Amino acid sequence: MKHLLKMLDMSQEEIIDILNLADQLKYELKHGIPHPMLKGKSLGMIFQKASTRTRVSFETGMYQLGGHALFLSADDLQIGRGEPVEDTARVLSRYIDGIMIRTFAQKEVEDLAEYGSIPIINGLTDLSHPCQVLADLMTIREFKGSFDGLKMCYIGDGNNMANSLIVGGLKVGMQVSVACPEGYRPDPMVMDFAQKDPGFSITDVPLEAAKDADILLTDVWASMGQEGEIAKRRIAFAGYQINDEIMAAAKPDAMVMHCLPAHREEEITAKVFEEHAKEIFEEAENRLHAQKAVMVRLMAD
Ligand code: CP
Ligand code: NVA
Repeated sequence: MKHLLKMLDMSQEEIIDILNLADQLKYELKHGIPHPMLKGKSLGMIFQKASTRTRVSFETGMYQLGGHALFLSADDLQIGRGEPVEDTARVLSRYIDGIMIRTFAQKEVEDLAEYGSIPIINGLTDLSHPCQVLADLMTIREFKGSFDGLKMCYIGDGNNMANSLIVGGLKVGMQVSVACPEGYRPDPMVMDFAQKDPGFSITDVPLEAAKDADILLTDVWASMGQEGEIAKRRIAFAGYQINDEIMAAAKPDAMVMHCLPAHREEEITAKVFEEHAKEIFEEAENRLHAQKAVMVRLMAD
C-alpha cells in the first residue's frame, strides 16, 4: 500500500491487516502502552470541506504516534488561489511525510498521489470515504466477532459512504444490500464492481434491503456541497429512513451505524439513533484507531 485513495484500490489482505493493527493500537492506547511508530514524522491535513471527526482524530492520532500534524485550510493555501495540485504535491513532498486531504473531486486526490512522492490519504471526497469505512469495518468486527455470514444493509443516498461501504463490505466477504431511490444510485464504477459479486443486491424498497440484516447503515440525504438540493432531496428520500419499521425487518440483534453528523428524523429517527448510540459512538472513536493504523502502514520507516 502506497496511498489510501479509495476502497476499490485495497485488497482484502490490506484491509484485514489495517483492522488488525487498528485493534492492536486501540488496545495499546487503552492500556497506556506507548506506540511512537511515527516519531519525528509530519502529516499535512488539507481541508476543502468542514470536519469534526476527521480533523481531530488525525491530529490526535499523529500526536499519539509521536508525530505532528498540520491543519491546512484550503482557503489559506495557495491552492485556494489557483496554484495547481501538481505543484502543491511536489512542494509539500519536500517538507512533510504524508498528506491527508478532504476535498470535492476524487481526481484532486489521485493527482496529489501522482505528482507527489509521499503517501496520500483520502479524508473524504464526493466519491469515497475510505477512512470512515475502515473504522466501520473495525466496529462491525468488534461487535460481531467476525464478518462471516453477515448481511450489511445501507439505506439512503448512493454517495461517498455508500460507494465505500459497498466495496469494503464485499471485499471482507459480507453480503451487502442497498436501498437507494432511482436517480441516487452509487457510482457506476462501484456498481460495476459490486454487480459481479453474488452477495450484492440493490433495490428501491428499503424494507426489502433491510430484511434479516445484521448491520444497518445510513448517511445524510444531502452531503457537503449539496446544500442547494436539500429541499429536493427531502422529497426524493422520504421513506428512506432507519426507523422502528426497518428495525423490525432486520435481525433482532442488528447493529445500527452512522458515520455522523446525523440528521434526526431525516435518515434516522432520534429513537433508533439513541437506542444504538453505543455502536455509533464506538464507530466514531474507531476513526482514531483505524487512521493511526493507516498512517503507520503508509508512513513508518
Ligand atoms: N464522519 C466524518 O467524516 O465526520 P467529519 O465530517 O466530522 O470529519
Ligand atoms: N456523505 C457525507 C459524509 C460526511 C462524513 C458528506 O459527504 O457530507
